[in-house]
Amino acid sequence: MIYSGEVHPYRIAVPSLHLDIFQKIKALGYNCVSFYTDWALHEGKPGNFTAEGVFDLQPFFDAASQAGIYLLARPGPYINAESSGGGFPGWLARVPGRLRTHDQSYLDATENYMANIGKLIADAQITNGGPVILVQPENEYTSGSDLAPEFPDQDYFIYVEKQLRDAGIVVPLINNEAFAAGYVTPTTKASIDIYGFDGYPLGFDCANPYSWPVAGLPTTYADSHNDYSPNTPFSLIEFQGGSFDPWGGWGFAQCLELVSYEFERVFYKNNQAQGVKIFNLYMTYGGTNWGNSGHPGGYTSYDYAAVISEERLVDREKYSEAKLEANFLQASPAYLTGVYQNNTHPNGSYTGNDALTVTALFSNVTKFFVVRHANYSTLDDAEYSITLPTSKGNISIPQLGGQLTLHGRDSKWHVTDYDVGGINLLYSTAEIFTWKQYGNKRVLVVYGGPNEEHELAIANGGNARVIEGSGVKTSKKNSATVLNFQTGPKRRVVQLDCELYVYVLDRNSAYNYWVIDTPSDATFGNFTKPSHLTSAPIVKANYLLRTVNIADGCVHLTGDLNSTSPIEVIGAPQNTRELTYNGKNLRFKKTNSGSIVATAQYTKPKVSVPDLSTITWKKLDNLPEIKSGYDDSAWTSADLTYTNNTVRNLTTPTSLYASDYGYNVGPLLYRGHFTSGGNESTLYLSTQGGSAYGHSIWLNDQYVGSFTGEDRFETYNQTYNLPGKLSAGKKHVITVVVDHMGLDENYDVGADEMKNPRGVIDYNLSGHSKSDVTWKLTGNLGGEDYADHVRGPLNEGGLFSERQGYHQPGAPTESWQSSTGALSVSGPGIEFYETTFDLNLPTGYDIPISVSFANMTSEAYTTANGTARPAAYRCEIYVNGYNFGKMINNVGPQDVFPVPQGIWNYQGKNTLAVNVWSQEEKGVKVDGLKLVTGSVIQTSLGPIVAAPQPAWSKRAGAY
Ligand code: GAL
Repeated sequence: MIYSGEVHPYRIAVPSLHLDIFQKIKALGYNCVSFYTDWALHEGKPGNFTAEGVFDLQPFFDAASQAGIYLLARPGPYINAESSGGGFPGWLARVPGRLRTHDQSYLDATENYMANIGKLIADAQITNGGPVILVQPENEYTSGSDLAPEFPDQDYFIYVEKQLRDAGIVVPLINNEAFAAGYVTPTTKASIDIYGFDGYPLGFDCANPYSWPVAGLPTTYADSHNDYSPNTPFSLIEFQGGSFDPWGGWGFAQCLELVSYEFERVFYKNNQAQGVKIFNLYMTYGGTNWGNSGHPGGYTSYDYAAVISEERLVDREKYSEAKLEANFLQASPAYLTGVYQNNTHPNGSYTGNDALTVTALFSNVTKFFVVRHANYSTLDDAEYSITLPTSKGNISIPQLGGQLTLHGRDSKWHVTDYDVGGINLLYSTAEIFTWKQYGNKRVLVVYGGPNEEHELAIANGGNARVIEGSGVKTSKKNSATVLNFQTGPKRRVVQLDCELYVYVLDRNSAYNYWVIDTPSDATFGNFTKPSHLTSAPIVKANYLLRTVNIADGCVHLTGDLNSTSPIEVIGAPQNTRELTYNGKNLRFKKTNSGSIVATAQYTKPKVSVPDLSTITWKKLDNLPEIKSGYDDSAWTSADLTYTNNTVRNLTTPTSLYASDYGYNVGPLLYRGHFTSGGNESTLYLSTQGGSAYGHSIWLNDQYVGSFTGEDRFETYNQTYNLPGKLSAGKKHVITVVVDHMGLDENYDVGADEMKNPRGVIDYNLSGHSKSDVTWKLTGNLGGEDYADHVRGPLNEGGLFSERQGYHQPGAPTESWQSSTGALSVSGPGIEFYETTFDLNLPTGYDIPISVSFANMTSEAYTTANGTARPAAYRCEIYVNGYNFGKMINNVGPQDVFPVPQGIWNYQGKNTLAVNVWSQEEKGVKVDGLKLVTGSVIQTSLGPIVAAPQPAWSKRAGAY
């Protein structure tokens, strides 16, 4: 089985951290990672493909191989992914062809990226000794709008496949329809090797995290698969692993309630009951939309409420639950030959209880059953007994009296005739974590939810002795040994004559058990090798186990701790002479059951970070553009009398669309020059920047007004009264700052929404014809000839400080004003703040550090009708030159911005810069800005190599 987690290398800014994520996924029991690559980051300038430094894929491939994780590569060219433009670079807005179709100008535009990324992926294929085993062309090629001349465009899909094959891809190609539509299958014109589709059954509305939609549980996946592609493995290429969250959303803590461990139990087991064979969970580690890489429908954090948090912590219960589920299937080869039983009356089947549904999956010998509530979202518990078919006939379980229980929002595997290394587990209602074979000895680890009754039986098991704990009833029925127990926090170990040791756990205890493959042989390296896996030790340890190595009677473990932890190695060699944890020798003892036990010590270090409320900042007026005499001669003239854009006709004499001039990211600035006629009273302005964007306007140095933004506005039209009366015949300038939230995705083929322009899109100055105003504009310095090749094409926008590169370490701040206390802007305007400090954090620990703002609910201002509201301001956060956050105080929700080690220098100097854009007449004060540390994890993760952090140097031609 391919059990996979989605991770995006471009959402981890520090390549040295890839191994951490891969090991945390390997520890879940997964054997694969699926990843997108983002065209917009690899080809910011048409014709210039780059994949260096933090954008290099080789460290990602190397880390996957080191952890033993296979890869499914998804290079697009379209990826969606909540990334700017859905991965399309901004310059594509100037390509006339319809996107994602066989229009030649679009195809031509993809050529350079596809050839280059295709080659990088091809070189990393398993056939070349690398980790890549599957490749996906395009992404969810399933939705066409009426504007698409034909959909699905089979010729286009064939073209993308050919691009990949021409680049040297030989592994199977896989597709991911958004829903099972059957557009591209092994038998359609554009045929695919492995057919697959996606599913997000709970959707993305984190507003009501406890309500699961009626009929939300997918029960027809297996049928759809069989309809469209019965001869390929049933594949769910993206199944919901969390949720995205928009500007103004509810925050990931609340999403985590929606897509919790309960969701995993009910929904994942439901897919598995239908026999899914390639199962990828989107996202497994979400990461960060650093450097403006996100689309307007999301904010900087892409935590996604995934099993691994944005801070790379694994303390969410859903991480542990995911581990239990994956381990079971990895230990159950019979699952792979299981045939989904299309049961037309699943309610009440096997149990006689209509409130329960049983879905069955039969292999030749082993039979699998998933029990759930018929009303899958009920919070009520149900009691039941179940009659299951076994090799000894139908058996009503429990045989030793009592009742089974299914808690609300739970779902469980039961098995019959399940092979435990040659021993027949006749049935088990307790769920299996794993089983192993060490010589003649077999170990079976089972668990159940809190205070549940369970029963299992071992055919020809012989006598049973409880060698640890108590409270297990044993009896013989029909030459099988039956064990019946109530789960509880105290472990029980039962030894049977057939040399089987059964470990009985409750679920919370099972969370602390791990199975990690030991390195096998030269061919397989650290990748999962089924035959090898059956003898890997089972290790009990808190928090995280990363690697297990056994050599010459020595057991070497590496892992992470958040507290002192008992360690137990079940299946350690008979004569183990040494046990090490993170390289340190541990004193150990042998237990009755043959395992070895020890204690790994956690030592809490002293951790301190600078106090930003007392630190000295350097401060710079970041809107010199409104000062009289400001010279914009170096700016781009908005003089194109046409647009290359095909989705919106020009309504202005010249195009003001930013991408017509190569500005595709970050705040945009416009200067409109005119000579007054003496009768200007209003300015009508239409701007477009994507969800939650805003704008601010000045006439000369006089503030005109702002649009402060809301998530529902992607575009906004407003007429402003101009301040004062202009004397006729004089030259004046209107300055507009427009925020840019990224480019829209291009989900529906035909609509070309990625091309939706950004910037000023229309205007009207009263008393003038439009052509009386001549415009200049700027975005990031150089536009597509961007200045910072290390941090990439999207890292900086068009504000003065950004054009100058002052967000980089070592900016010439000597002449800037010093400031302490809260960052502030005295009226409407933009101020740039910069400070430097040393961090001196202990090595050997993984300590998340975030930039945190005071809770946004602080309501500083009063609206016209008297209600309190938050102050309208926007901040951009730069750490050592990397843009690690966009915060909008009046929209939210994100007010804590994690920044990884490697962007921070944990033992050395750091530069933190914050842009504050005030949209308040009275000015703003940024409340409560501070650095906060998260859980202090003692880690075996080696030294982290920092991402390159080139320092400021004077930029030629910067204005
Ligand atoms: C899918 C898409 C992904 C991502 C996901 C939602 O439709 O393929 O790229 O956008 O939805 O997070």
